[in-house]
Amino acid sequence: MVDFLKQITSSFMSAKNNSVIGIDIGSSFMKVVQLKRKNGKAILETYGELALGPYADAAIGQATQLSPDKITPILLDLLKEANVTTKNAGVSLPLQSSLLSLMKMPNVDEKKLAQMIPIEARKYIPVPVSEVSLDWWVLPKREEQVVDGSDPTEVKKGEGEEKGPGRNMTDVLVVALLNETINDYNTIISSSGLQNAFLELEVFSTVRSTFGHTSAPVLIFDMGARTTKIAIMEYGIIRAQHIINRGSQNITVALSESLGVPIARAEQIKRDVGLVGKGNDADASATAQLIVDHVLTEAQTVLLNYERKHNRMIKQIILTGGGVLLKGLYEKADKEFETEVTYADPFSRTESPAFLAPVLRDAGPEFAVAIGLALRKLEETG
Ligand SMILES: Nc1ncnc2c1ncn2[C@@H]1O[C@H](COP(=O)(O)OP(=O)(O)OP(=O)(O)O)[C@@H](O)[C@H]1O
Ligand SMILES: [Mg+2]
Repeated sequence: MVDFLKQITSSFMSAKNNSVIGIDIGSSFMKVVQLKRKNGKAILETYGELALGPYADAAIGQATQLSPDKITPILLDLLKEANVTTKNAGVSLPLQSSLLSLMKMPNVDEKKLAQMIPIEARKYIPVPVSEVSLDWWVLPKREEQVVDGSDPTEVKKGEGEEKGPGRNMTDVLVVALLNETINDYNTIISSSGLQNAFLELEVFSTVRSTFGHTSAPVLIFDMGARTTKIAIMEYGIIRAQHIINRGSQNITVALSESLGVPIARAEQIKRDVGLVGKGNDADASATAQLIVDHVLTEAQTVLLNYERKHNRMIKQIILTGGGVLLKGLYEKADKEFETEVTYADPFSRTESPAFLAPVLRDAGPEFAVAIGLALRKLEETG
């Protein structure tokens, strides 16, 4: 089969029925991770990725837009090549398919809220409510007070709990997912024979595999091929999202144009040289630097706006997505942001043979979504 399967696919354990897989269909690479539970631990059984570019007459690393009927055979190829032995799956939905709104709702019970939210959502969502599926979270009260910038003690000084400010209203975070996207993914799930599959917005998968539950705000910086996705999470809930219209393929294209080389060669130069090229490679690094600067500046603006608006400091920035593997990007980001910057290390949540540790650490940012999905599936499988 396809000879552009990245040579990191490995299979080193025998799989049983209680195995689960996480599938991340990115714009440039499709990834899969298979886990199973043993003695309460998540054991890594196999993982692999496949470049989508060559299926769309594009180079490896380039973004694609493939229809569900094109995706299904590629997915089946990947499952075969990675020696996947189960169809028990979680599949990620791209952040671009979601719309996020923070709504003020009265303090009513869950059932009433479920009736009210679709009606209220009409005011917030720029497409007909019939075209989206809604999911929501009531935000923790304690956080609401901090987010509002109000002093939590102020309530006590007021006229009493019941009549205090904001007492009868609650913040609800509503995520709307386009039905069209959900239908496309359901088509892929059924035509590839996946079983008991769930769909999850990719940032939630990343959160699960990278930092679990922390109350402090964390910024996820996911540099893919086409775009860079910024998500700010608090209490494991997404609080803000922003899509930067530049991704790692922009570096490749810029290198191809400025050096006058084919895309495939430019992709290799990008990976070999990154931001740290000297001598003959200095020009290539300067070209890459322009795009990285653009992305980091926009991410910095998102971060500062959030901190100002909510009066909360971002505690950590997590770099994820294949684009952050660019040589020198970590150092650049670490210098640029005043906040602690870390690479996603999702494989550390799994048990694997020690000899694979360095490889898995390096591949981590690419597999954060797939691992997060598999971890949820493991939890659900029990
Ligand atoms: N070692 C590396 N150095 C530089 N860039 C890399 C490296 N490895 C992968 N990339 C780039 O990362 C991008 C792929 O990242 P990733 O797999 O996260 O994207 P994706 O999930 O397909 O995209 P998206 O999330 O935007 O849909 C490609 O453009 C690729 O060129
Ligand atoms: Mg991705």
